[in-house]
Amino acid sequence: MTKQFSLPRGTADILPSEIPLWQQVENRARNLLKIYSFSEIRTPIYEDIGLFKRSLGQTSDVVNKQLLEIAPLVAAGEEKKESEYALRPEGTAAVVRSYIENRLDAKEGLSKLFYIGPMFRGERPQKGRFRQFHQIGLESIGPNSASPFLDAEMIGTSVRLLHEFGISQFTLKLNSLGTQEDKENFSKLLREKIKPKLSELCEDCQSRFERNVFRVLDCKNAGCRQIVDSFKFSDEHLSAPSRDYFKQVRDAVSSLSISYEYDPKLVRGLDYYTHTVFEFVGSSLGSQDALGAGGRYNNLVTDLGGPQAADAVGVAFGIERILLAMPPETKTAPPGLDAFMVALGETAFKRAFVIMDFMRKGNIASDMISRLGASMKSQMRQADKQQVRYVLILGEDEEKSQSVVVKNMSTGDQELVGWDEVVEFLKKKLK
Ligand code: HAM
Repeated sequence: MTKQFSLPRGTADILPSEIPLWQQVENRARNLLKIYSFSEIRTPIYEDIGLFKRSLGQTSDVVNKQLLEIAPLVAAGEEKKESEYALRPEGTAAVVRSYIENRLDAKEGLSKLFYIGPMFRGERPQKGRFRQFHQIGLESIGPNSASPFLDAEMIGTSVRLLHEFGISQFTLKLNSLGTQEDKENFSKLLREKIKPKLSELCEDCQSRFERNVFRVLDCKNAGCRQIVDSFKFSDEHLSAPSRDYFKQVRDAVSSLSISYEYDPKLVRGLDYYTHTVFEFVGSSLGSQDALGAGGRYNNLVTDLGGPQAADAVGVAFGIERILLAMPPETKTAPPGLDAFMVALGETAFKRAFVIMDFMRKGNIASDMISRLGASMKSQMRQADKQQVRYVLILGEDEEKSQSVVVKNMSTGDQELVGWDEVVEFLKKKLK
């Protein structure tokens, strides 16, 4: 038997019946982000592997365990080469690479960019966690742009996006990591708290203790969770200016009537963050409950060799998780066809074929069974399946009178309309 192929683990087909919903989400995002003055950017789905290592951090799980590398072509007899490229696990690094490479800093003051597209992480798949998933991401990047009001704008835009998708059941968690120096203080503080309990942590956390101690705070292992829950933190790692900046962010967020939960244990899995970090946690999502997350990353442009330093803040939402969290009543049903041609006999069939062409040129979405000799019953069944609004019936009588029967499928009303008038007739009805 011929081998049947299956889709790769952790990926999904988006079938025609699901496309209207995806388009609804994408269109709503595009329309809304225009109002908030963001412009779309599209970068390649793969980049230099070094870009991800440098920006997300060598010790982050995303780089360490989840990068999907593109194996280089090796000719027979040639030595195996190291991968040069990897599929993008997220969008921020590539947007910053493009910002620097295209000198967007020289062209505009603040670049407010958004992207919609697939991301790739070699994770263990489960509900809401895929190897190919899709993000809607936003980045505001610009020299001297570190303003608490931009952090608040990013959060405000995010909340509005979620509302636009009909999602109101979520919690916004907010924290500040401070500057690079504050982050180092935070690591030190965390290590001091963890050290006496180190042997009780899972194996992964024991290695995280040295590599990237923040990750211990995210561990899902029950034993580690219990230990982490017993730690008390506040903002003691922050310098006075960082504390003041965070206070201004919180005040600006509150001024937009957005409520949040201050979570001093919120750290992020990617290394580039400084100062504000936040996460939108959905209440109906189970263990993969982050609808979206982001924060400020003031050092990344410089770290990636930008000609001038630029401050930045951003967020990204997982579209698959948005779809899971959207209440059913906010999801649009796939639109049906405007019209379906039902023809009986060869002459009528050929006539219907030409009329259908006129209808399509008049922007009336139409179709017919393209096989001569299909019964009336099977043609009507097909029309029903495609949820058409009008059926156009052509038989011998209609051929003689140069007309078609136009049947409104929701009322059952029928009218006889001339061939020449049917396009205009339907256009009026469909308005
Ligand atoms: P992240 O937290 O890694 O941040 O991902 C953002 C969102 O993408 C998550 O909250 C989740 O909804 C979705 N997501 C992540 N991994 C998966 C997966 N394996 N399957 C399904 N959905 C997933 C970032 O990617 C940062 N670039 C966000 C950002 C932008 N920070 C600043 N600017």
